[in-house]
Amino acid sequence: MKDIYLYGAPASGKTTLGGRLAKALGRKFVDLDALIVEREGRGIPEIFKEDGEAAFRKVEKAALESVAAAEVGAVVALGGGTLLDASSRELCEKCGSVLCMATPSQEEIARRMGAAPGTRPLGDKSAERAPHYASFKSRVETSFEAGESLVVVGTGIARGLMDERRIVADENVARLFGLPSPIAIVPSGERHKTLETVSRLWAAFARAGIGRGDTVTAVGGGVTLDLAGFAAATWMRGVAWVDFPTTLLSMVDASTGGKTGFDLPEGKNLVGAFHPPRLVVVDTDFLRTLPAEAIAEGRAEMVKHEVIGALARTPGGAALPTAREIAQSLSVKAEIVTSDPFERTGRRILLNCGHTVAHAVERLTGYSVSHGMAVAIGCVEEARLAVRMGLAPETWPDELASRFREFGLKTELPEGLSFEKMADSMRGDKKRSGDVVTFALPCGWGDVRKVPIDLSRKGER
Ligand SMILES: NC(=O)c1ccc[n+]([C@@H]2O[C@H](COP(=O)([O-])OP(=O)(O)OC[C@H]3O[C@@H](n4cnc5c(N)ncnc54)[C@H](O)[C@@H]3O)[C@@H](O)[C@H]2O)c1
Ligand SMILES: [Zn+2]
Repeated sequence: MKDIYLYGAPASGKTTLGGRLAKALGRKFVDLDALIVEREGRGIPEIFKEDGEAAFRKVEKAALESVAAAEVGAVVALGGGTLLDASSRELCEKCGSVLCMATPSQEEIARRMGAAPGTRPLGDKSAERAPHYASFKSRVETSFEAGESLVVVGTGIARGLMDERRIVADENVARLFGLPSPIAIVPSGERHKTLETVSRLWAAFARAGIGRGDTVTAVGGGVTLDLAGFAAATWMRGVAWVDFPTTLLSMVDASTGGKTGFDLPEGKNLVGAFHPPRLVVVDTDFLRTLPAEAIAEGRAEMVKHEVIGALARTPGGAALPTAREIAQSLSVKAEIVTSDPFERTGRRILLNCGHTVAHAVERLTGYSVSHGMAVAIGCVEEARLAVRMGLAPETWPDELASRFREFGLKTELPEGLSFEKMADSMRGDKKRSGDVVTFALPCGWGDVRKVPIDLSRKGER
């Protein structure tokens, strides 16, 4: 197993992320600076002051060589200038993968280092080294926690973080990205999100000899993640798993929150388990092969998150979202699932914004309207309901509709559908009790309200 080297400017979060990553992956963690201090018996500023930078770099290189020689597949937090030396860089790139952290702003660095506001703790070093850091292809944009999962978002980071031994991959992803020998391939399409596919995964786990201490790696869209996560949840009463979402929808939604499962002929996602992945790796490189419609699917959930989290609106259009935009969107879900991991406190229902109507639209059109399209329609229809109930201003549904349209999402109800017809279908929704359905009504940016509505009483709808 290869090492994972975290590199980047001082105070960019290498040590914090390194410790968390090592824990999530069950690997050894090495903080190179701490190792040097331990070996030398004095602090790094002292070594610099007493012996000079050249002497420090020598000691640092020797420490790095001993870490690499151990070949234990460690997660290593490097110093801010460790790889300025070409041969050290070569060594790290040979023995492992180098992930470079995005450089925080001077203000953020000052805050993290506990310096007085307005000071530049690194002087001009970070500007001077910017081209050096930019020369690394793998960039970690940010990381955060979502319930029990560690989420890492970046570009070009997947390969470095992927344990190649127990991969369950979507068939298209395996082909497009040449994934190394997966133990199981999940056929593409919602129609394969069945118990039969889960059984195949269990059989593959048996063949691969997966035991209680092993970790399954799922790589694909929401279908693959839901299935592999469920298979992991049930295999030997639960083994650890990590996921690499490859569609925009799965990056901002299905990757996180711990819901796993499969469909039955009687309904979607009827069987499942809460089983959060240890680690979620969101790599925007996967988006490059996605068709425009699949990007729009994910955009619909991103607009939903903008509403829930009152996020700053990002540019519209067909361009791929940036790692930062995806992280911002996903952090809305992360915050909610952290506060309500098992859907018990009622907070998590906020994520259902627009979805009560969306699910009815999907059912009533025999799933010919895609989920993302249905979410756009659902959010706007529910915004109209909010207006009818006096909870939102008249202009709100149009404002929301135009935001969805910026990403090519239509918001008109399909021919022949009406709120009346949908009400009958909604009474069959999972979030109901009798005729009362609890909506997460979008009432404005940052204003989603939990509203129980009696759908048997026409006046109220
Ligand atoms: N667990 C949750 O919390 C949660 C949340 C939302 C959705 N979901 C589930 O997610 C599923 C939908 O997920 P989805 O939209 O990702 O669909 P999907 O997994 O079916 O993927 C869509 C298509 O894209 C292909 N694909 C995947 N990555 C690709 C890539 N990088 N390049 C090219 N093609 C690629 C797949 O082969 C597939 O054909 C549904 O089953 C839904 O129930 C789960
Ligand atoms: Zn959704």
